[in-house]
Amino acid sequence: MFPAHRPRRLRTTAAMRRLVSETTVRPRQLVLPMFVKEGAAQPVAISSMPGVFQHTRESLVKAAVEAVQAGVGGLMIFGVPAERDAVGSGATDPNGILNVALNDLRAELGDSTVLMSDCCLDEFTDHGHCGVLAVDGSVDNDATLEVYGEMAVAQAVAGAHLVGPSGMMDGQIGFIRTALDEAGFTDTGILAYSAKYASALYGPFREAVDSQLTGDRKTYQQDPGNGREALREVALDLAEGADMVMVKPAGIYLDVVRSVKEAVDVPVAAYQISGEYAMVEAAAANGWIDRERTVLETLTSIRRAGADVVLTYWATEAAAWLDRE
Ligand code: PBG
Repeated sequence: MFPAHRPRRLRTTAAMRRLVSETTVRPRQLVLPMFVKEGAAQPVAISSMPGVFQHTRESLVKAAVEAVQAGVGGLMIFGVPAERDAVGSGATDPNGILNVALNDLRAELGDSTVLMSDCCLDEFTDHGHCGVLAVDGSVDNDATLEVYGEMAVAQAVAGAHLVGPSGMMDGQIGFIRTALDEAGFTDTGILAYSAKYASALYGPFREAVDSQLTGDRKTYQQDPGNGREALREVALDLAEGADMVMVKPAGIYLDVVRSVKEAVDVPVAAYQISGEYAMVEAAAANGWIDRERTVLETLTSIRRAGADVVLTYWATEAAAWLDRE
């Protein structure tokens, strides 16, 4: 009899396929990134990210509660300030939009979810870079660290459980760790955006935060062609005290997710970014792909590659789909 081996036997029924399925995606493994806009009277739709909003303080809390009730594991909060300046003062101000929103969320949700905060200056600077600038216009690494340290402490005071430094400055994890510890926040953790690539797919996010950037971030974010360099960034961040590491974007960097997963003994996160979201939404809106199946396939693939935690704008919706399974 030929063929002797018939792998299809394990695919014959839905029950059989369920029994042997290797990769699970659970709601608790998903983190919802959210935007809150200073002074907004109502939620503002983001045209390049259908279904995603710049929230008011009130609508942010409401959507956060819905996400937590759906079983989502955490929230990552981004602030959109009304005013910006060269040094991103709104980021360190306790009354800055991100800090007041963290306060609102922690008051409402307590420890029932993991509250994370973007610890980066790009939303708050009038030039849109992730750090402060030197006189020659370049991003000044070490001057930026001082601001990140202050920003991280302000976020810890406001209630963040994990701060998420996403600016790709050298030494940022160590600097922030020391700042948090010196301020008494020894239990506030750091989710390090360790391997963050200078991707074309951040486009919709920049609409989401009203980014003022002209030019690019290639002097601090990684070159898309570099895989080994990600391992170096990850090793440095762990040596400096990162509690978790992240790869970003996710879906077109699955090889990096896998190699990071094999190299470390901390949880690995992957960020399915705005452009990944927008591509699927656009194709689905055209009827070219099945939206729900595609979303679940992307999340499954990111998990299969090795991500323990996935940041995704579909977190709340996907949690409901997954619970139905
Ligand atoms: C920087 C930051 C960015 C994103 C998360 N944090 C933008 C950038 O590096 O330009 C992008 C997230 C996304 O595209 O969904 N604070």
